Amino acid sequence: MKVVRTVRDMQTVAADARRSGQRLALVPTMGALHEGHASLMRKAREQEAHLVVSIYVNPTQFGPHEDFKRYPRNLEADLSVCQRESVQVVFAPADDEMYPGGALTAWVEETKLEKRFEGEHRPGHFRGVCTVVAKLFNIVRPDLAVFGKKDYQQLKIVERMVHSLCYPIEILSGPVVREPDGLAMSSRNQLLSSSERAQATVLWKGLNVARDLFNSGERSPHRLEAAIQRTVSLAPAARLDYAAIADAENLEPVHEAQHGNVALLAAYIGSTRLIDNAIL
Ligand code: PAJ
Repeated sequence: MKVVRTVRDMQTVAADARRSGQRLALVPTMGALHEGHASLMRKAREQEAHLVVSIYVNPTQFGPHEDFKRYPRNLEADLSVCQRESVQVVFAPADDEMYPGGALTAWVEETKLEKRFEGEHRPGHFRGVCTVVAKLFNIVRPDLAVFGKKDYQQLKIVERMVHSLCYPIEILSGPVVREPDGLAMSSRNQLLSSSERAQATVLWKGLNVARDLFNSGERSPHRLEAAIQRTVSLAPAARLDYAAIADAENLEPVHEAQHGNVALLAAYIGSTRLIDNAIL
């Protein structure tokens, strides 16, 4: 497994792999790798592609009062996960490689979905995500890239960016990987105290309450959202940011819930903000 720290070296390594006739796959991550990330690496390996995993905590997708500083970082542990998953190349650049001189003067934005849900609550977040993903695509020039449904809106935005900007990259997605009690795996789960960790299961419970209500015939998005709100509020440490039922492709709010819609939510558990979603 090669560990590459500079843009120049990554371009060389990727060009060598392409010359040898291999398809290149990219799994972009911010590290603190867990089974959710590993599942995406396995999905990429199934494609029999030369696998590049990027590990980079991207500053431009964090707001000024968000958790950039306390975001978990542990490159050694991440490298052993990558080794175990037979990753060929880990790209772990420093900030001055990705953002030389500090600031950018050109950005990539997806204008349709980026202001909704996560984008509304985290202004500028998706501009940072799209920009860093575009940079990674330009550096690695993969044939395919794998993203998780855990960040459902991010996946849809990346798909639109690839389509709008004509990137010749196939986007694959993997299902949400969960802990045994249903909590979606997330690097941020490490930031929870043990009491918060126990209470964090209300996110998944809220989604299931909405799903059960839907399955018993409830079609009002407002009543489904209110049921999520009530369930989440059962945990004293939890504060719901939003819960919404939306069209699973264009993420438009729906007037009447239908099979295949997505229920999306974000909530603070203590000071840690988590997201989750489920298809109705
Ligand atoms: P990060 O949160 O590290 O996630 C990297 C990838 O792993 C994303 O595609 C995410 O959806 C996926 N993932 C995370 N938890 C998952 C889970 N429990 N099940 C399945 N997939 C999961 O998302 C980012 O980083 C960044 O925004 C990034 C795309 C790397 C740009 O900086």
